[in-house]
Amino acid sequence: MRFSSTLTALAAALPFTNAYWKGFNVAATNIDGTCKTTAQWETAFTKLAGLPQDITSVRLYASSDCNTLEYAVPAAIATGTQILVGVWTEDSAHYTLEKNALEAAINAHGSDWIVAISVGSEDLYRGDTTASALATQINEVRTIVRDLGVTQQVGHVDTWTAWVNSTNEAVITASDFIGLDSYPYFQDAAIGDAYDTFWDSVTATRDQVAAVSPGKWVWVTETGWPVSGPDYGDAVASVKNAQTYWRSVACSAFESIHVFWYAYQDYGASPSFGVFGDNGDAIYDLYKC
Ligand SMILES: *[C@@H]1O[C@H](CO)[C@@H](O)[C@H](O)[C@H]1NC(C)=O
Repeated sequence: MRFSSTLTALAAALPFTNAYWKGFNVAATNIDGTCKTTAQWETAFTKLAGLPQDITSVRLYASSDCNTLEYAVPAAIATGTQILVGVWTEDSAHYTLEKNALEAAINAHGSDWIVAISVGSEDLYRGDTTASALATQINEVRTIVRDLGVTQQVGHVDTWTAWVNSTNEAVITASDFIGLDSYPYFQDAAIGDAYDTFWDSVTATRDQVAAVSPGKWVWVTETGWPVSGPDYGDAVASVKNAQTYWRSVACSAFESIHVFWYAYQDYGASPSFGVFGDNGDAIYDLYKC
């Protein structure tokens, strides 16, 4: 890994029949708010791998919170799962803990389990930081992991509205990949328009990236449709609409872009996007496209 290019590392890490990552977002907490144990991470990864789509990659939000990497990486290695790592950038004490946890996981387990590393998540959308401060953190984490021999890409996850905002160009420049969160549901889209609304957000982000820093890939780091929750304009949360969204958006996106679906499990939340219900079964048919 140490001497291979990022592209070679990615190609080697991907199952050769799959051109794109097909992943899921997984929270470090259980529904009752407790932190997942290694056994509970293993249960989650095993359930995802058992889906018709054979999900063997996940996006995790943090490195130190809930001892995420300490507990999840052994479970990932045991189940053949790979992780899109999250590093929180706020506040500075938390950011330090996050960097330390990532370094510890790499020192303990090497880097074959890493899909890529996202520094920050929706910080620009929240207005919590500036583009230049975030760019500095992305570059800092890249330097840290390159010094440890890690070749995987280091980027950032944010909403498509943040990526297309020219104020944030420095973050595109600093990122190896552009992680896009896109929710037609929160854009008040009727389910019949959701496919177009989703792909419009991808196209708008790709256009901006091409203008600022050509050649970088846009990844979908979050998308999904809730099985329950309030209406947003013409957007209606329902199991039927979640199934329709999987069928139209997942099945098209899995063929043409890296995707991390939202989410593994969050029953009880409102809106609730999780695909595994409280009985442990999938709430709708996540059939192989
Ligand atoms: C772009 O981002 C800046 C800084 O966060 C903000 O002030 C501005 O309103 C944004 N522009 C749009 C069109 O959202």
